Amino acid sequence: MKDELEKLHSVLDPLMQGKRNLKVLEAGCGSRTQIRLPPDACIVGVDISEEQLRKNTGLHEKRVGDIQTCALGEDAFDLIICWDVLEHLDRPLDAVSNFFRAIREDGAIVLTFPNVMSIKGLVTKFTPHLFHVLVYRYLPQQKTIGKKGHDSPFRTYMRFGISPDTLKTFAGRHGFETAFCHSYQGVMQAELRRRNIGIDRLFQVAEPLVKALTLGSVCVNDCDVIVVLKKGEDAPSEP
Ligand SMILES: C[S@@+](CC[C@H](N)C(=O)[O-])C[C@H]1O[C@@H](n2cnc3c(N)ncnc32)[C@H](O)[C@@H]1O
Repeated sequence: MKDELEKLHSVLDPLMQGKRNLKVLEAGCGSRTQIRLPPDACIVGVDISEEQLRKNTGLHEKRVGDIQTCALGEDAFDLIICWDVLEHLDRPLDAVSNFFRAIREDGAIVLTFPNVMSIKGLVTKFTPHLFHVLVYRYLPQQKTIGKKGHDSPFRTYMRFGISPDTLKTFAGRHGFETAFCHSYQGVMQAELRRRNIGIDRLFQVAEPLVKALTLGSVCVNDCDVIVVLKKGEDAPSEP
């Protein structure tokens, strides 16, 4: 993940260069902020869960709300980060439209999410919540997840609307361009493969087969995506 973050910063930092007192929205902030922000940034966190907001100590302002529907304002933020949240939304593109309204003219939107058009994405989409709980519990750091008195995994919808290609087309239609789109193997899949040689072998065998059978539309290894969107040069000022 460290390498992925560095790649993201190599695109994001120049976009934010020269701006002081960045106004940042962490949409679905949970309990932490994943990327490096300047010390004078003002970070607003919105989350549907009061409990998650309570645990987050890095925010200057906390708002309880549903990012699909809550008013985020217009031209309100220099940077919007939505990290590992879109897959948990029933209507993820409503949230993205909300971000389009709230971002400033020269701002940037960072979205990270699993690629629904990957083995991980499709398995997650078509398996019940209990299966997700059991997979988490297989990992050493997550043994207590979903047990009484401990956090539960968040419900996952994994809509096809957040496949990278669909999202890029949607952004283009709203006058936004993709400044960065990077696919990589997420921490959880890497950890599962590291812990279980049988799972790892299965992935190795599946890769060429899945690629051939789906004509490259479903990926195996690079199951997670980071996308940075910014307003296109010719975008109208009122999206
Ligand atoms: C997997 S966590 C990611 C948290 C954080 N962004 C991170 O990177 O650690 C998903 C977060 O999305 C929040 N969430 C889920 N649905 C939401 C919604 N409709 N509006 C706002 N937040 C939501 C959850 O409460 C949770 O904190």
